Amino acid sequence: MRYLVTGGAGFVGSNIVLRLEKDRHDVTVIDDMSSGTFKNLTTFRGDFYPGILEEMDLISLFRGRAPFDAIIHEASITDTTVSDQVKMLQRNIGGFRRILEYASASHCRVVYASSAAVYGNNPSPQNEKQTPNPLNVYGFSKMVMDNMARRAAKELSSPVIGLRYFNVFGPGEGHKGKFASMIFQLYLQMRDGKPPRIFKWGEQGRDHVYVKDVVEANILALSAEHSGIVNIGTGIETTFNEIVDFLNKSLKLEMTPDYFDNPYDFYQNHTRASIEGARALLGYVPRFTVAEGIQDYVQYLEH
Ligand SMILES: NC(=O)c1ccc[n+]([C@@H]2O[C@H](COP(=O)([O-])OP(=O)(O)OC[C@H]3O[C@@H](n4cnc5c(N)ncnc54)[C@H](O)[C@@H]3O)[C@@H](O)[C@H]2O)c1
Repeated sequence: MRYLVTGGAGFVGSNIVLRLEKDRHDVTVIDDMSSGTFKNLTTFRGDFYPGILEEMDLISLFRGRAPFDAIIHEASITDTTVSDQVKMLQRNIGGFRRILEYASASHCRVVYASSAAVYGNNPSPQNEKQTPNPLNVYGFSKMVMDNMARRAAKELSSPVIGLRYFNVFGPGEGHKGKFASMIFQLYLQMRDGKPPRIFKWGEQGRDHVYVKDVVEANILALSAEHSGIVNIGTGIETTFNEIVDFLNKSLKLEMTPDYFDNPYDFYQNHTRASIEGARALLGYVPRFTVAEGIQDYVQYLEH
């Protein structure tokens, strides 16, 4: 099959690209390298179009080539603290508009990355029937993409599938610096012999999902029969204290956390994905518990 992966040099995108190539598909990547790195794709065998997606007329660009069977759209500003609202919206919404234009002209399937950020501080477990409540312009951009996808799903001949990722962690996120997962940040501190720093008293929880499960969800979405927007997580909340325990076990350490006051007026204390929708639409069942994901990840990082 022929696939286009946008944001293919990023964390999740590169994991998807490498899996698709392992499965012997023909993969083309678009990335503007604003937050991605070529280092994630050193074994890549496909074609690469550098560029800012919303500035690319995909229909002209790929005219004369066999159409893609699907687009997997991961490109996005992922720095959730960007306060330039116009830039965030132009990049995230404008880029998605390009994807939908191409899909409409070429009848190809679209699978795209949405985010748990659309839920803001909605009560846990977050489910797809909740009214979105984004707390930053990043979450707002994903909410608008979901609105566009719902409309497109009624008009396009192939499915449009949105995956609302929760907190993804795993190989390929190192380039994200302070936007890499908390699991990676805590790993770095502990590896360097520093006690892991977490907010008092470490009881806040997140639905942390291993990138291999996120890749699997994308693969399943390539053959799902219907359009839809579903959560991708584990369905389990894991506290930061538990994360430190799992890292201690995987690193064979016995570190205790350095707790400090949470400086934020507002902080989301609990997230947990309801994953019933993903099970129904995709047949998605996470294969890794957070403990297993951390063990697999630490093995990768230590070798
Ligand atoms: N990592 C997570 O925990 C998480 C959680 C929820 C949603 N998501 C979503 O998953 C997707 C992948 O995120 P990630 O963690 O891999 O982040 P990432 O920053 O590593 O990857 C994003 C990639 O998109 C590229 N990009 C950004 N804007 C672009 C544009 N306008 N044109 C072309 N390329 C562009 C970047 O250079 C980068 O390679 C994003 O859509 C993100 O919003 C991620």
